[in-house]
This record gives sequence, structure tokens and C-alpha cells, in this order.
Amino acid sequence: GHYDNGGYEHYLLKEISEQPDTVARTLRGRIDDRFHIAHLGGLNMDARETRSFRRVKIIGCGSAYYSGQIGAQLIEELARIPADAEPASEFRYRNPVVEPDTLYVAISQSGETYDTLAAVQELKRKGGRVLGIVNTVGSAIARECDGGLYLHAGPEVSVASTKAFTSTAVSFALLALHLARVRDLSPADGRRICEGLRKLPEQIEQILKLDEHIKTLAEKYAQAPSMMFVGRVRGYPVAREGAQKLKEISYVHAEAYPASELKHGPLALISHELPTVAIVPDDELLDKNLTTLGEIRARSGRILMIGHRTADAADDCVVVPKNETELDPILLTIPLQLFAYHAAVALGRDVDRPRNLAKSVTVE
Ligand code: AGP
Repeated sequence: GHYDNGGYEHYLLKEISEQPDTVARTLRGRIDDRFHIAHLGGLNMDARETRSFRRVKIIGCGSAYYSGQIGAQLIEELARIPADAEPASEFRYRNPVVEPDTLYVAISQSGETYDTLAAVQELKRKGGRVLGIVNTVGSAIARECDGGLYLHAGPEVSVASTKAFTSTAVSFALLALHLARVRDLSPADGRRICEGLRKLPEQIEQILKLDEHIKTLAEKYAQAPSMMFVGRVRGYPVAREGAQKLKEISYVHAEAYPASELKHGPLALISHELPTVAIVPDDELLDKNLTTLGEIRARSGRILMIGHRTADAADDCVVVPKNETELDPILLTIPLQLFAYHAAVALGRDVDRPRNLAKSVTVE
């Protein structure tokens, strides 16, 4: 690449390490501490229009789609607008119903992913209102959208997305706050979210300090031929992204499942040979998640837990700082980036240029 790797051995590690800064840049100038709202001038929507949407549909590919799943949960939780995410590639091929009171949001780091661009074009043709959450200024998707937010995360060089994923999730928290505060989110809850957002850069710094510990764990677990990633609700998109990172750069097979779905099939796979990475935030689902860990352990499954505490059922734990429950998925993703990175290094992979993949897929 023609960008400076800043003395890091790989762009990927540089981009993971930059996140305190890139998240701060995504937030800069967008939080109003007086009214506990988000300033998002680029949306090009007045208050009446902002209040009018009855549904939010988020589209993107790969990691962009997984960050959109975090986004959908943030919008539902904070703004109480039904929201969901779908792969842009699927969306464009299934002749979706385009509704005037749905807000469409397209996500892309590069702004050039062909499936996402084609989905946006199809939406526009049918009168859909489309916002973009994009990193690359002036890119094709950014130009096609009615408005949106730029991530301001700086160029992402490594094929595996890290800082763009995090900044997209942060952008969704801002968008959710914006939509919520012109509906029924209280000033007190608005303030809680604003304060939580402001804490993120420092907390990411704390997580990066766990690097040596995570490296040891990655070297231990990367020997397994396959890994299971599980999470419930807020933890599920985190599990999916964690599995995606591992597959992409280490070529270790990984599957992500909602923790609650294990007993409906994949529990049959669990053995000492198939370790599980469990995303277990301290939220209202903690007890349910700990029960699932017990079920895995009863089948001799080894468990690496990522959460806010340690648990007896887990063989290993990575404990990250707690933020507001709604924002925790953003932080829980970061140890999984480091885990995949160190697994890939341990296995001697080409970390920044994994086989068979391109940084942006600009063809069909
Ligand atoms: C991320 O690690 C992947 N390389 C991939 O899933 C990527 O997120 C996807 O291709 C979308 O790219 P975009 O954000 O540039 O549209």
C-alpha cells in the first residue's frame, strides 16, 4: 500500500490500534451536551421528516452488514422504531417493497461496493429515502445517497475491516440518538448515551492494553480446526463479526450462532475439539448466557468468554470496560479483532492481504 504503516508490522494492527482516535473523530462536533442530542447536519432532513419514519432498513455487505445489525438494535432500543439489517446483495435481488415511510441506510467503508451501490440505485429508482454511512468521501455510494454521515476514520488499507466497523457502529449510535430525541427518548437517557459515547475512546485504549493477554489466548485457540462464536441479542452481531474476522484472516473455520439457537442444532458439534467464543455482556441476558456456557461445558467444550466479568464456566475470560448497555457491543468487538489478528499471525497468514479477497468488491 502507499499509506504509511506507522511503524506497525501490519496495517491491520495499526488500524486496530488507531481506534481511540478514529472513534473520537467520528464523534467530533456531533454531540450536544446541552440538549443531549446529536448534530448530524449531513442528513439533510428537517425535524418533521425525522419524526415521520415508521421503519428503518439497513443494508450493507459483510462486516458492513454486521455493523448494520448493531445499528438496527441501537435504533430500535433508543428510538423505538422497528429496524433491521439485511445484506445489500440479497436485498437488491429480491424485489423488496420500497415504502415511503421507511428510512433506508446504506453502509460502506469504501463507498464502492457494487452490490450496495446497486441496491441504493434500485431504492432511489423506486422513491426510497436513502442515507449513507460511508468512510470514503465523495465515493459512488456517498454521491448516490440523499444525505448521511461520514465516518472520518481515515483510509482503511487492510482487507479486513476494523476501524470502519467500529466507527459505523458509533455513527449508528449517533443516528439512533438523533432519531430518538425527536420522539420519546428522555433528556436523561439522551444524556446517558452522550456520556457513554464520550467514554468510548478511553475505554478502547483500555482494551488495547489487553493485547498481550489476547495474543496468548489466540495462540492457544488458533490450533483448533474450527470455532463457534455465540452471543444473544446485542452480543449476536458481535459474534458474527468475530467469526468473520477469524475466517477472513486466519482461515480458521468459524460459525456464529445466537446462543439461544445452540440447542436447536449446533450443540451436536460441541466437543473438546471445537472451542466456543462467547460474547457475554453484563445485561439482562447474563443469566441466560451463563446457563448456555454451562451447557457447552457439560459437553467438554472449551470456552473463551468476552464480557464484563469472569465466570467459572469459562476456561478463559477477556474482561472489557462496561459502558451503557446499548453501547457495549461496540467495545466487545475490539478484543475479537485482536484475537483474529494474533491467530492469523500465529498461523503465518498474510494478514493484510488474505487469499481470495479484495478490499472492495466493485464487481457483481
Ligand atoms: C470486512 O472485513 C470484509 N473485508 C468485507 O466484509 C467488507 O466489510 C465488505 O466487502 C463491505 O465493504 P464496504 O464496507 O467497503 O462496502
